[in-house]
Amino acid sequence: MLEKIKKLKNQALKEIKKSKVLKELQALETKYLGRKGELTGILRNLKDLAKEQKPLVGKLANEVKSEIEQAVSDLKFELTGQGKTEGEHFLDITLPGQKAETGHLHPITIVKQQLMDVFTKMGFMVIEGPELESEYYNFEALNIPATHPARDTMDTFYIKDKPGWVMRTHTSNQQVRALEKYGAPLRAVFPGRVFRYEATDAAHETTFYHLEGLMIDKNISIANLIAVLRAMLKGIFKRDVPVRLRPGYFPFVEPGFEVDVTCLLCQGRGCPVCKHSGWVEMIGAGLVHPKVLAAGGLDPKEWSGFAFGMGLNRLAMMKYGITDIRLFLSGDLRFLKQF
Ligand code: DAH
Repeated sequence: MLEKIKKLKNQALKEIKKSKVLKELQALETKYLGRKGELTGILRNLKDLAKEQKPLVGKLANEVKSEIEQAVSDLKFELTGQGKTEGEHFLDITLPGQKAETGHLHPITIVKQQLMDVFTKMGFMVIEGPELESEYYNFEALNIPATHPARDTMDTFYIKDKPGWVMRTHTSNQQVRALEKYGAPLRAVFPGRVFRYEATDAAHETTFYHLEGLMIDKNISIANLIAVLRAMLKGIFKRDVPVRLRPGYFPFVEPGFEVDVTCLLCQGRGCPVCKHSGWVEMIGAGLVHPKVLAAGGLDPKEWSGFAFGMGLNRLAMMKYGITDIRLFLSGDLRFLKQF
């Protein structure tokens, strides 16, 4: 009998705890405490029990009864509260709240916004353009004809059902678009997502971010290019960062350069990331090729300019000491929450 009462208690408390609306609770109250309820039955029939059982069963049954009554009245209070209608939950404003987690910016976005800040201060427009691009703007307008070997190095995603269209391989695709739209003089930067058909590893991704810059005016020189790049790096790294220029080939500039930046992971002393050279190749740049100026409708005898392009992922990797490019798109919160 004692066992039975204990079981009854457990079941009753469990069911009461689960009930969410007042009606349910009232039904349970009748079931367990009502006149026809089991517990009431037990109490009523106490007199039929053996003498030595009576006090034990009676005591336990009464305890259980008041425990169930307490549980019902607690929950009733919670469900109805002061002035609350049936079914609504009682709101205790003194309970500690649940802290909402706030989001924050992705490291690529942080770097991009800092760059926008630096460039807009220097009078550059920020232009974003299409990711699905014609071969013309991605290649031909940039002096990369179909037969040009540079196309092989670009590992392009071609669009199966849209001949002549590609996922842009760089944001240089915007150069001639911007020249057609705004003419000269022009100062613009083009941030955005770019795509390459590459095997992924710690240094390569199929989808990453670029920032292209273009400045067109009269008598633009390499000195102007270097000054702007220095200002850019200072804006990102908050100090002067030594750079060096090496000759580099890009069909849309002449002359062209690879711009190396002191490896900030080892401060130029040499480490695995910079392959112990102390320098990291970070930016492609040069003076805009006359054919590109002409494609943009400008007279190359009258106008000149510089262009540069770089991967934002690599820049963010340098800034934050990230050693695997795949982390950016991994969606791994252990990585993302650090920024
Ligand atoms: N578009 C080049 C790339 O995807 C980067 C680049 C190099 C852009 C030289 C330039 C430049 O504007 O002058 O790697």
